[in-house]
Amino acid sequence: MKIGILTSGGDCPGLNAVIRGAVLQGVIEHDTEFVGFKWGWKGVVEEDFVPLVRHDVRGLARQGGTILHSSRTNPFEGEGGGPENIQRMMDRNGIDALMVIGGEGTLTAARRLWDEGGIKVIGVPKTIDNDLAATDYSFGFDTAVEIATEAIDRLRTTADSHGRCMVLEVMGRHVGWIALHSGIAGGAHAILIPEHPQSIEQIAEWVESVRDRGRAPLVVVAEGFMLDGMTEAYSDKGLDAFNRPRLGGIAEQLAPMIEAATGIESRATVLGHIQRGGAPTGYDRVLATRLGIHAVEAAYDGAWGEMVTLRGTEIERVSIAEATGGLNVVPESRYAEAKIFFG
Ligand code: F6P
Repeated sequence: MKIGILTSGGDCPGLNAVIRGAVLQGVIEHDTEFVGFKWGWKGVVEEDFVPLVRHDVRGLARQGGTILHSSRTNPFEGEGGGPENIQRMMDRNGIDALMVIGGEGTLTAARRLWDEGGIKVIGVPKTIDNDLAATDYSFGFDTAVEIATEAIDRLRTTADSHGRCMVLEVMGRHVGWIALHSGIAGGAHAILIPEHPQSIEQIAEWVESVRDRGRAPLVVVAEGFMLDGMTEAYSDKGLDAFNRPRLGGIAEQLAPMIEAATGIESRATVLGHIQRGGAPTGYDRVLATRLGIHAVEAAYDGAWGEMVTLRGTEIERVSIAEATGGLNVVPESRYAEAKIFFG
């Protein structure tokens, strides 16, 4: 079998480990041939790929980013786009199937290619935000939490030195998993996530109670967090949480509001793409490698239109439709656990 691998959407530490796991499993167990499409779907619609052999994946597990590059191209657009063109391109090059490593948008496109055009696809979940349904955790998330936790630890010493309130913004457009986990790990005094709008009065109360105990308050906020009433105000303007950070950033909006409400000098830090860069943690390397191995096995089982996924400690399969059918939001019970740290 000849499998084409692509990485699409925002990058994520662990992508290279998936590629390595897949190539080693395929070459060693099945004599599979691999090609890597460059720049995600762009390489598919533009017929831009390179051969991937065992030698190419040597030492790749520890390498951040993706050797295949990535983009947010839509495979239904452009001259070579759409199921018929893509199938023709695959036939021309003897490619039997596509291993699509991506998040919600990428996997939705993969599902459509299978549903509408019979293109043989296997999905591998990728999201630093951990927002994909039907997978307990995704690779990249653990690395992001480590980086955000280290940032909290570092902010704490400078906050203490000046008696300031620090507001750290982490990724999480739709869900607050990175904020929740790093906030608990770093001992934040308030964790603000998109699933739970809060009022500025409530945040100010938490911050003041920390100050009253003689501590420097530390607030972690996910980029998609909205203050009470903000969701409506933004949707009236046709904007959502994804557009909003690009317009200013929630931490930069919150810090002066907190300062005005409490009189405590406040500073904002936006962690941004540092969370997506560099080497994956050991956990993410292992998870990504296992997903790569199982994706190859799924192809040999003809599990087209399915995605490999982590359930508990096992790698299982689900339909891509199920994985793209909703968001993996932070459950109420998980947020409630964190509240012992607030204020
Ligand atoms: O979906 C992952 C994510 O990292 C979000 O948390 C963030 O909003 C977005 O990607 C950033 O995308 P880009 O790299 O295109 O700026």
